[in-house]
Amino acid sequence: MAQPRSNQVPPRWRKEVERVLITEAQLARRVRALAREIEHDFYGHETVVVSLLNGTVMFLADLLRHLSLPLRLDFLGVSSYGDGLESGHLIFTKELRLNIRGRDVLLVDDILDTGQTLARVLPKICALKPRRVKICVLLDKPARRVEKIAADYVGFTVPDDFVVGYGLDFAERYRNLPFVGVLHSHIYKQACKKVCRK
Ligand code: IMP
Ligand code: MG
Repeated sequence: MAQPRSNQVPPRWRKEVERVLITEAQLARRVRALAREIEHDFYGHETVVVSLLNGTVMFLADLLRHLSLPLRLDFLGVSSYGDGLESGHLIFTKELRLNIRGRDVLLVDDILDTGQTLARVLPKICALKPRRVKICVLLDKPARRVEKIAADYVGFTVPDDFVVGYGLDFAERYRNLPFVGVLHSHIYKQACKKVCRK
């Protein structure tokens, strides 16, 4: 049987995922390169990695195993009430446990889209008086930015499509896809109708 090409959507997901935007191999290669950049900049300082839940799970796990730095890890829980497509109204579902005062903080998120999430998170982190904060995102979608926020480390710049997989969700689904894919618009249009009817 012919092997499926890695940029083809696996048959199991074809009804929901229109196309593969970033393959597993591309993700692996880029995450390794990002880790090298970060290691170089953070070397020699007490580093705390602060990762935003839940979208960073896969990216974080892969990034961390390539970071040969003494570091500590903490999570900030951020959740939004919305239609699943936008950041909506943000609430914090988990607070930091570690003291980051005087530390170098690497803030990790899955995607920088409008920038509203990081615009809420950054002042909260900065109020804890770290030595410096650098932002690392797997994906940057500059087309929809409304806040003046830029990331210091970007895995991939993506077009204005709704993407899922490798930790990113639509209504909490698709986080387990090993690649980043573009969702068929009929999937989220259906969901929007349901939300609007409520
Ligand atoms: P922002 O606040 O608009 O920058 O968006 C940040 C959050 O919105 C991310 O952490 C994601 O949870 C979610 N998000 C934005 N765009 C996408 C997307 O294309 N796919 C999945 N989640 C997204
Ligand atoms: Mg999300």
